[in-house]
Amino acid sequence: MVSFLRLWVRRPARLGAVAPSGRSLATAMAEQVDPQTHGAVVELGGGTGNITAALLKAGVAPDNLIVIEREQALCNLIASRFPSVRVLCGDARQLRRLLRREGITRVTAVVSGLPLTLIPDRSVRTIIDQCFSVMADNGQYIQFTYSPAPPVSRSIVTGLDIRGERADWVFDNIPPAAVWVYQRRFATVPLPARQANADRMADARPI
Ligand SMILES: C[S@@+](CC[C@H](N)C(=O)[O-])C[C@H]1O[C@@H](n2cnc3c(N)ncnc32)[C@H](O)[C@@H]1O
Repeated sequence: MVSFLRLWVRRPARLGAVAPSGRSLATAMAEQVDPQTHGAVVELGGGTGNITAALLKAGVAPDNLIVIEREQALCNLIASRFPSVRVLCGDARQLRRLLRREGITRVTAVVSGLPLTLIPDRSVRTIIDQCFSVMADNGQYIQFTYSPAPPVSRSIVTGLDIRGERADWVFDNIPPAAVWVYQRRFATVPLPARQANADRMADARPI
């Protein structure tokens, strides 16, 4: 948290949020991922690793999880917190190249903590286009936003032939946030599959 704040003071626009995601938001993001998935799970904008921790807690295997973060100091922090997770220090706009270098060609889900509202539309399109290009047909792009509006603009959604829906609200995050899930328009994974996953995790939570 301290290192995140220190970086934020120097470069607020590059980090996007003054504080990392709270535990409820990180858990709500992780709930959207099927931990039994065979493909890789990619986290974009790992920050201090709160969503990484939630993904691991949800059962995503460490060797199936790849975190991409642009700030070297935060890459070092995530790598020291989670030594068995692969951390790629680089720009999400270079996603395909970063993954190819690691020999990863198939991804099942992308979990993004990127501050999309602060990223130019053209770069957002590049990032999301690359995400879907490395994902199988039923791949899902999971994104949180502090805005009541969808985090991905209509023109990008239409242009990339994807669809999105708000999967969750997290009111006890500061600020409150919404979790959105995007998939290809023709994807065949129904919402109840994700809901079942969330229900399963809710059952497993300590009271
Ligand atoms: C709002 S913080 C979220 C951090 C963490 N995922 C969380 O939820 O607490 C956004 C993170 O995305 C990283 N980031 C922003 N643009 C990026 C890009 N183009 N490529 C990779 N990481 C980026 C920032 O350095 C920052 O750590």
